[in-house]
Amino acid sequence: MTNRHERGFTLWFTGLSGAGKTTIAEIVEKELRERLGAVEVLDGDIVRTNLSKGLGFSREDRDTNVLRIGFVAHLLTRNGVAVIVSAISPYKEARNRVREMIGEDFIEVYVDAPLEVCAERDVKGLYKKALAGEIPQFTGVSDPYEPPENPELHIKTNEERPHQSARRVIEKLEELGYLQ
Ligand code: PPS
Ligand code: MG
Repeated sequence: MTNRHERGFTLWFTGLSGAGKTTIAEIVEKELRERLGAVEVLDGDIVRTNLSKGLGFSREDRDTNVLRIGFVAHLLTRNGVAVIVSAISPYKEARNRVREMIGEDFIEVYVDAPLEVCAERDVKGLYKKALAGEIPQFTGVSDPYEPPENPELHIKTNEERPHQSARRVIEKLEELGYLQ
């Protein structure tokens, strides 16, 4: 095991709306706060109320949003912070640009659930509206999602509970040497 103890990293949760990114991120955040101290969370929904306020959901705006989040994550990571990002980040190219910026401390986690399952959960009622044609460019319904090809971790949230998924994320960080 490489010793990366006390080194920063970015856990990048990508996946459809309702797949479980925010939920898993919150559980992981709590544990990392107890074990590491310096933890920062960048959640798409929240970033869009400040850093990315005014951006929409065109490819260009999503890429801008993802690259902004990636830039902040990069700054924090290189200063030893444990960064947790949850953003749909649907385009492979933008995610890979962030991977290049952050380097080996970028850990991509594919939070995967079938579209039907996300639409069935419909936590925010967005799928109902999107399927009724009321939200244009809704990821998975009327806008693309490009799954990661080689994520460091692939989580299937329709096959396990959020706490089990979070456990696997923690185990991955231990395996990579970021946590002792
Ligand atoms: S992106 O694609 O990475 O820039 O998106 P992100 O910043 O993560 O924002 C996704 C949240 O915005 C809400 N929302 C939409 N999602 C997808 N497509 C459309 N058209 C859309 N409109 C609003 C939704 O609450 C997303 O949050 P999550 O947590 O993924 O459900
Ligand atoms: Mg969310």
